[in-house]
Amino acid sequence: MVIKQKFSIDFQYEIIFTRNIFSPENDTLIRLLQKTPGIPTTKVIVVVDQGLVGVDRGISTTIESYFSNYSQVQMLDLPLVVTGGEESKNDTRELVKVLELIDRAKVDRHAYVIAVGGGSVLDMVGFAAAIAHRGIKHIRIPTTTLSQNDSGVGVKNGINYFGKKNFLGTFAPPYAVVNDFLFLESLDIRDWRAGTAEAVKVALIKDKEFFNWICNHAEQLSQRDLSCMEKLVIRCAELHSEHIGGSNDPFEMGSSRPLDFGHWAAHKLEQLSGFELRHGEAVAIGIALDVCYAVQAGYLKQELADQIIDALQKLGFRLVHPTVFGQDGVSINPELLKGLEEFREHLGGQLTIPMIKEIGSKFDVHEMNPAWIEAAAQSLLQKKEAHAD
Ligand SMILES: NC(=O)c1ccc[n+]([C@@H]2O[C@H](COP(=O)([O-])OP(=O)(O)OC[C@H]3O[C@@H](n4cnc5c(N)ncnc54)[C@H](O)[C@@H]3O)[C@@H](O)[C@H]2O)c1
Ligand SMILES: [Zn+2]
Repeated sequence: MVIKQKFSIDFQYEIIFTRNIFSPENDTLIRLLQKTPGIPTTKVIVVVDQGLVGVDRGISTTIESYFSNYSQVQMLDLPLVVTGGEESKNDTRELVKVLELIDRAKVDRHAYVIAVGGGSVLDMVGFAAAIAHRGIKHIRIPTTTLSQNDSGVGVKNGINYFGKKNFLGTFAPPYAVVNDFLFLESLDIRDWRAGTAEAVKVALIKDKEFFNWICNHAEQLSQRDLSCMEKLVIRCAELHSEHIGGSNDPFEMGSSRPLDFGHWAAHKLEQLSGFELRHGEAVAIGIALDVCYAVQAGYLKQELADQIIDALQKLGFRLVHPTVFGQDGVSINPELLKGLEEFREHLGGQLTIPMIKEIGSKFDVHEMNPAWIEAAAQSLLQKKEAHAD
C-alpha cells in the first residue's frame, strides 16, 4: 500500500535597494510589513549586529523611534544587540539569546524577526527564526558588502558546529531583503573589500562582461567609491538571485554548488586561521588557488589566470596566507586538503568542485589532484615573491 503525496510551495521575495532605511521619511519597511492581509497590527522584533552599535551608538534608539511613528507596526521588545562577526556563529550563545527573545516577546508565526547586520548575524538570526515555532518570517537587512551582494539575498542560514562551517542550518527563504547602501560607509576596509571577492566569483562563473567591469573599476572599488560599490552589489545580488531562482535546485539537493567556486579551500582556510581570515578574504585566496589549479590541469590559459589574480590583487586581497602552507612555509598544508572531503560531506554525494575554462562559465570536476593543488599554491607563492621584487 502506497499513498502518494506531492505538493510544492511557491517562494517569492523582494530584494529592495534603498538608503537610510530607519530615517522617518523612509517607509520601505512599513510598506513591506503592511502586506499581511487581515492583520491590523504587525508585530516585529529586531536583532542588531554589535558592529553597527560600535559605529553608531544611537542605532537602537533610531530603530525604536522609527517604529514608534507607525501605529500599524508594533515592536515587541527593545532591539536585541548580538555579537557581530563569525563569533556569532561559532557557538550557540547568540542563537540562544535570539530564541529567548522570540519566546519572551511571544513572537508567533504572524510576526516578523528583522535582522540588521553582516552575513554572520543574518545567518545566525535566520537560523533562529527558521527553527523557532518551525519557522517565523524573517526580514534581512544586510549591512556589509558581502551580505548585500551574496549571503543576505539567498535562502541559506546556519551556524558553525563541531568546528565546521554551517554544520547546523536550514534552507529558509526570507520574507524580504532590504539593502541599505549607507550602512556600507562605516565598514572597515577589510569588510568593505570582502564582498568584492564574491563578485569576482560569480562573475567568473556567470558573467564575463561583469568581470571586465570589475577589472576596470578595481581601483575605485578598493578606494571606497560608494557609487561603484552600489553597482557591484546590485549586479552581484541579481546574479546570485537569478541563480537561486533559476537553477532548479534552490535547496541544493544535488551535489553541485556552482556558487561555491573557490569555496572548498575558503571554508577550510577560515577555520584554519581561527576565523582571523574574513569569509571574503578566504574566498579570494580560494579563487586564486582554483584558478592556478585550472592552469595546472590544463583547463585555463595562464594569461586568463594572471588577469584574474591581478584583479583580486587590485581589489586589495592578499593571496598568500600562512594557513595555505605546512610548517615549512612552502609545501601545501595537509589540513587544507581535508577541506575537499568536508566540502563533499556538507552536500553528500559525489565530490563536485566548480572549475572554469574561460571567464563567464563553469564546469564541474569530480576529483582534485593534490599534486596540482600543491603546484597551484607554489605558483601563488612565486607570484607574491615576483610582486615583492
Ligand atoms: N547564507 C549564505 O548563503 C552565505 C553566503 C556567503 C557567506 N555567508 C556567511 O557570511 C559570513 C560573513 O559575512 P560578512 O562578510 O558580512 O561579515 P560579518 O557578518 O562576519 O561581519 C564582519 C564585521 O563587520 C561588522 N559590521 C557589520 N556591518 C557593519 C557596518 N555597516 N559597519 C561597521 N561594521 C559592520 C560586524 O560586526 C563584524 O565585526 C560568513 O559566516 C559566511 O559563511 C553566508
Ligand atoms: Zn561565499
